[in-house]
Amino acid sequence: MSERIIVGLDVGTTKVCTVIGELSEDGILDVIGEGTAPSQGIKRGAVVNLEKTTEAIRSSVKLAERVAGVPVGQVYVGVAGPHIKSVTSHGLAAIRRGHTIGPADVERAVEQAKAYPFDGNYELVHALPLEYRVDGQEGIKDPLGMAGVRLEVDVHLIAAASGPLTNLRRAVEAAGLDIEGLVLQSFASGLAVLNPEDREHDVMLVDIGGSTTDVAFFKSGQLAYSAVIPLGGEHVTGDIAQLLKIPGEEAERIKKKYGAALVEMADPDLMLEINQDGNHVRDVPAPELANYIYPRVREILLLARREIEDQIGPLELHVQKVVLTGGSALLRGIENLAYKEYNVPVRLGRPEGLSGLTDVVASPAHATAVGLVRFGSHEQPTPSGRRARRENKPQDDGAGIWEKIKGIFENFF
Ligand SMILES: Nc1ncnc2c1ncn2[C@@H]1O[C@H](COP(=O)(O)OP(=O)(O)OP(=O)(O)O)[C@@H](O)[C@H]1O
Ligand SMILES: [Mg+2]
Repeated sequence: MSERIIVGLDVGTTKVCTVIGELSEDGILDVIGEGTAPSQGIKRGAVVNLEKTTEAIRSSVKLAERVAGVPVGQVYVGVAGPHIKSVTSHGLAAIRRGHTIGPADVERAVEQAKAYPFDGNYELVHALPLEYRVDGQEGIKDPLGMAGVRLEVDVHLIAAASGPLTNLRRAVEAAGLDIEGLVLQSFASGLAVLNPEDREHDVMLVDIGGSTTDVAFFKSGQLAYSAVIPLGGEHVTGDIAQLLKIPGEEAERIKKKYGAALVEMADPDLMLEINQDGNHVRDVPAPELANYIYPRVREILLLARREIEDQIGPLELHVQKVVLTGGSALLRGIENLAYKEYNVPVRLGRPEGLSGLTDVVASPAHATAVGLVRFGSHEQPTPSGRRARRENKPQDDGAGIWEKIKGIFENFF
């Protein structure tokens, strides 16, 4: 049997989603199972109740196992939240006279960049080399075999605070699962939804979830910057509940069913029957509901813009496309509003390039879980992910330096 089972586990603030993929020997990725359970015990990307989180993980995995007909043992888990830090760090290696650049030189430069002094108790989640310079010459993707005396590299580092990471690990392991890898959620979303054309451009991905919005900047297909905004769809629902003085569940229901991000996108003749408190029904025109939704969604989009502009400069100059993912991207008119605010082409990101149960994972809300599977499909299988991670050892111990370097140059898409 040459197929490999790869499982993505997206522990979100509103839902826990498991996607099971099967990777054939010829590289085709089939989705063979999906399970979604309401999330409990997670706030802003961090576990606040271990038992409830574990229970939600169990339920979602069980549902996916039932569809796929295979048991789940190892999972790739998404990490997100305000306890994530990302920086671009610089590494340098001197090349011996008369030698060309070899794998050990590249590794030395990358290792130096990885030694960035994150303050506090942080664990490195990703070290993604962006570009190399040889004797000052910029824009080199693969310096192996080149001649020079000075090799430099920019590496995008993503680190997570140890406390929240440990709690997430505990919740997953208590559900009887081994963690094969930890992956930044917005990185995963990008892996699922960016198509070959996007990868030739500079793209801002905005994943608007329940209580957080993850922003990521992909420069020619490489993750170059990421940030988290502590606002999401739950805040939109909260505004509706507050302004219409209705329960949260009713606000959530009408938002999903009739909500729009722009007043122009709401049907002016539609009158909504809103259940005020279980006994009273009130009529609210659809454009009024849109008026309550618009300011918060605009705020989220503007904060995403600011995050990126602080790092790279004016959006119109540096971003050629904006891709929206996350459940809140399903809000009617959000693409139009984003286009109005950003003035660059905007589209919804749905998982692409898969076969199997593609219709089940076709939503922007599935981007993260599918992307986790895609990330896993580029890694070497491990006999026991959990053991390797616990001992903090590289997983391909015996594979030698070439394997490691191959990993460094790996195109994750
Ligand atoms: N059709 C819809 N219209 C508007 N909003 C929607 C729709 N469907 C889902 N949402 C919103 O999407 C949000 C959940 O998104 P998602 O499933 O991406 O969150 P999550 O991954 O659990 O959360 P996070 O990424 O913040 O941890 C909820 O606030 C929900 O109200
Ligand atoms: Mg999410």
